[in-house]
Amino acid sequence: MNYIIRVIDDELDIDESFGCNEDESVLHAMHRTGRKGIPLGCRGGGCGVCTVQVKKGHYSHKAMSACHISEDDLANDTVLACRIFPEQNLELCITGKIRRRFAAKANPMLLASHRAGR
Ligand code: FES
Repeated sequence: MNYIIRVIDDELDIDESFGCNEDESVLHAMHRTGRKGIPLGCRGGGCGVCTVQVKKGHYSHKAMSACHISEDDLANDTVLACRIFPEQNLELCITGKIRRRFAAKANPMLLASHRAGR
């Protein structure tokens, strides 16, 4: 089964979508489809750079290090993109330290204007 993963950020005007098979992680699918945005790190749950929050849709997940994802994060659907597998179409937003990196890749001019306070 193939699902649509949508990454959105209204404030930074980001709206990216890509297909993801049920047996591949969201991060793997993003890389396979040539999309950019969510940083590619270890791809195994160890570095924490791929943190996202799932806003809509169900997913399964593999174990995630408590160093990066707390119980509260999990309860809030804040997860590692390399460790989640869609069970429906998903809508995600970028969180924390990777948000600016995503914005820079998606729209460098917009990030520059945010830095300048415009
Ligand atoms: S890429 Fe390292 S935790 Fe996801």
